[in-house]
Amino acid sequence: MKTFEQANMMKRLPEQFFAKLVEQVQEVKKDHDDIINLGQGSPDLPTPEHIVEKLQEAAENPLYHRYAPFSGYPFLKEAVSKYYEREYGVSVDPKTEVAVLGGAKTGLVEVSQCFLNPGDMALVPDPGYPDYWSGIAIAGGSMYGMPLKKELGFHPDLRGIPAPVLYEAKLMFLNYPNNPTGAVATEELFAEAIELAEEYDICVVHDFAYSAIGFDGQKPLSFLQVEGAKNVGIEMITLSKNYNMAGWRIGFAVGNPSVIKAIETLQDHYFCSLFGGIQAAAAHALLSDQSNVTTLVQTYEERRNALVKAARAIGWDVEAPKGSFFAWFPVPSGFTSEEFATYLLKKARVVVAPGKGFGEHGEGYVRVALLADIAKLEEAMGRVGKLDVFSNKRG
Ligand SMILES: Cc1ncc(COP(=O)(O)O)c(C=O)c1O
Repeated sequence: MKTFEQANMMKRLPEQFFAKLVEQVQEVKKDHDDIINLGQGSPDLPTPEHIVEKLQEAAENPLYHRYAPFSGYPFLKEAVSKYYEREYGVSVDPKTEVAVLGGAKTGLVEVSQCFLNPGDMALVPDPGYPDYWSGIAIAGGSMYGMPLKKELGFHPDLRGIPAPVLYEAKLMFLNYPNNPTGAVATEELFAEAIELAEEYDICVVHDFAYSAIGFDGQKPLSFLQVEGAKNVGIEMITLSKNYNMAGWRIGFAVGNPSVIKAIETLQDHYFCSLFGGIQAAAAHALLSDQSNVTTLVQTYEERRNALVKAARAIGWDVEAPKGSFFAWFPVPSGFTSEEFATYLLKKARVVVAPGKGFGEHGEGYVRVALLADIAKLEEAMGRVGKLDVFSNKRG
């Protein structure tokens, strides 16, 4: 069979770091049916029933069987605007400041295509969500990794970025609550990002995928709540996590009208919006009673508490994440993150994601997802404890 030569853009796409781990998991699965997979980021609980019912009802509406308006139904954009007003006290013009996305992932890739010419630079968190790299690679841009270090609460040292890099940068990606570190933002961090963005003419893209998932009574901060944010950037939100709707593929970009317009223009060439029934159900999710979201956050917090307690009990010196549904645990000495993940898979049949997969500064950590019930999380830590790899327990 003929093999066709792919375009240069395809060759620039970053390698899927986690593919090897997925392969190893499949291999171990052949002989064991007791793997506990805490390596991935797909919510384990179902979408609230009232949202599913709204989709069922909407599926019967012939209006939604037709093409939807290219940039999405106005009622959905109005719902997003009301949501921002209600949740954050932020006013958003539904006509010019909201774009409908096929999930935040799509928007995060599109924004690089909209604003980066070949060779242009984007600032990305390191460690960070790998899809930022994909969009930058498609656009032919280059990346500067902003290290997220424990001593700075996993915030980037924005003033430490060299001035020549800032002059070249066109985009800055930020993400809080953070995947993979579980850190949350502060107003100071966002204010500093806004100041820098003004000074160096950078567009800030705040990935707010875990917008509702903050622990210990702390509601995560929206970038748009900080003065001047809309002038320099946008925020992406998604229904994937807050409403367990990852398979539905719906999210939004909200903020600076010129950025929203660019995303919508690009999308006009790719898509004809999303199925109207999903848009109706999404509007319903945003505007209806939010008690399912509250319960979900409580569930993750209980899981976090159980996981951290169980990890500490086996001698693992870990910190509790403040938000998202990930814990960022240090790798014991003598292992790289990849070696440790492989070791846990082979010896304990527990899957975690090696930190290196999220960037150079992810080395030394593994990401553990809170996406299993408490009994499973405790069982996982129990199995890891039997390996006796934490010296402070042995010592
Ligand atoms: C940080 C971050 N951003 C964006 C996404 C993608 O969200 P969506 O399902 O809306 O595409 C994820 C999903 O794992 C994520 O962790």
